[in-house]
Amino acid sequence: MISEDAVDSGLEMIWSSLPKRGSKPPSGSVDLEKWFSPKVVSQLSRLRQSIEAIPGGPTERFFKTCFSAVVSRVGLTDPTVPVPVRIDTDRKSLTKNQRKQRKQWLVDRSTADVFGLFELFVAENFERLKLLSEQCTAPKAAVFEDARTAPGDCLVDLVISSPPYGSAQKYIRSSSLNLQWLGMARSGLRDLERQSIGREHFSHSERVEIDSPLPSSKALLNKIGKVNPLRRHIATTFLIEMRDALSRTCSRLKSRGHLVLIVGNNTVCGHTFDTQNYLTEICEMLGLELQLRLEDHIRSRGLITKRHSTAGLISKETILLFKKTP
Ligand SMILES: C[S@@+](CC[C@H](N)C(=O)[O-])C[C@H]1O[C@@H](n2cnc3c(N)ncnc32)[C@H](O)[C@@H]1O
Repeated sequence: MISEDAVDSGLEMIWSSLPKRGSKPPSGSVDLEKWFSPKVVSQLSRLRQSIEAIPGGPTERFFKTCFSAVVSRVGLTDPTVPVPVRIDTDRKSLTKNQRKQRKQWLVDRSTADVFGLFELFVAENFERLKLLSEQCTAPKAAVFEDARTAPGDCLVDLVISSPPYGSAQKYIRSSSLNLQWLGMARSGLRDLERQSIGREHFSHSERVEIDSPLPSSKALLNKIGKVNPLRRHIATTFLIEMRDALSRTCSRLKSRGHLVLIVGNNTVCGHTFDTQNYLTEICEMLGLELQLRLEDHIRSRGLITKRHSTAGLISKETILLFKKTP
């Protein structure tokens, strides 16, 4: 947990070492200068250089998280689409109000005050951390790259996770602009995507024969495979990788500890992919007991792509509470 003093002195350091001019944005597969106005590119680049000077550790990660939130707010990207798509004010299907709103977004985002937004997000996020420390005594947080290989061996009382959807969200593409601004995508996004559970891209050499860890999923996977073998491979890989992630999670839970999962079903090749039941089965195989199941209706998070009609809309999420049996 970071202290208020650490945040204050970090901010002081950032503002006092802010360079007068921005350098070129970090390299990667995206041309960042096409996705942000020149004024915003310059401010982001100055801020980024200044944050880089903060010594590595929790405070630096906190500032980088806030920086990434600013990036999401100031790109010339349509905020209603999860992956980066330019704001289009001319689309024929837009109503008069939608057109007006998009024009306003373009103005706001081209002229954004990056430094002011950064201060605001730092303050808001620090308030959230303070709330957490009011609710838990001495909360500790760890940052790791992959849930399946999370380091450490101390046991915890509670894990809350919103794991990836099975092949319904393009997580790495959605955050590609943020990843590049953070300097995490210099050699492209492919390696990051390979670590991402629920990914959709597999080269031919990666598409080897694999088997689902869940007998109850096999009939559906066979049906999917008849329509689209790649979709079957994606869905099977998802179940295998979620089993590995949940296995690691479960091994870190104390006896009688709890796991909360927020999960949504989706549709694959026109069939309901019952992620919540599959993950429940995996958890039960790992020695967890389902205690409670709640449903939450959400605004649609369907994919806006040509596959939309077969990928389906996600209209509700389920909150599952498990207890580790002694
Ligand atoms: C349903 S989203 C949850 C987002 C989260 N609630 C948030 O606000 O950031 C699932 C998240 O899991 C992440 N993810 C995918 N593969 C992962 C892995 N191997 N280890 C850890 N996280 C992963 C995705 O990038 C995505 O951000």
